Amino acid sequence: MPGLLLGDEAPNFEADTTQGRIRFHDFLGDSWGILFSHPRDFTPVCTTELGRAARLAPEFSKRNVKMIALSIDSVQDHLSWCKDINAYNGEQPAEKLPFPIIADKNRELAVKLGMLDPDEQDKDGMPLTARVVFVFGPDKKLKLSILYPATTGRNFDEILRVVDSLQLTAYKKVATPVDWKPGDSVMVVPTLPDEEAKKLFPKGVFTKELPSGKKYLRYTPQPE
Ligand code: BEZ
Repeated sequence: MPGLLLGDEAPNFEADTTQGRIRFHDFLGDSWGILFSHPRDFTPVCTTELGRAARLAPEFSKRNVKMIALSIDSVQDHLSWCKDINAYNGEQPAEKLPFPIIADKNRELAVKLGMLDPDEQDKDGMPLTARVVFVFGPDKKLKLSILYPATTGRNFDEILRVVDSLQLTAYKKVATPVDWKPGDSVMVVPTLPDEEAKKLFPKGVFTKELPSGKKYLRYTPQPE
């Protein structure tokens, strides 16, 4: 089965990109990484997504996340499309974005990574890439995967939000509840005994009483 599951190591592929040839593990280095795919160059939803991703690049950089996009067109097409994306953002139509775009002309990577959307095809009946987001940790393991069809654009604020959650929960024994935003209270993970939780979270652990009498809804202010 092609594709990646949570915990899988990122394949160390080589690819041509708008910033030259890369080897994926070298590209990631010790950083977090986000790999996001697009159906095709010069398409409307993709242009809005890449424009937003470019504007948010400083936010990803602040979080030590390296960004890289993928689409099934050539480097030359990508570079030409970058001008449109920059113009869409109200900037000079330069052939450069703050992150590289992989040219997966033969769909080799798209197949390997399980990115194709069978419902969206090009004029030759070949499937286009879906809107995949993979977030890799510094250990190069897959921490999050999002898969949208070509017809639904992603919410990049949500992607930043999940990066904040992934990074917080990677280092602290907490989980983030529904609709969590940075700064909100978090939940103590169920496997942590009460006594340890009290020591680990000096700002306090607040348990909500429930009809079952089970004390599993344990909140604590977001740890530093
Ligand atoms: C788009 O990016 O606008 C798009 C691409 C493929 C199918 C539908 C929409």
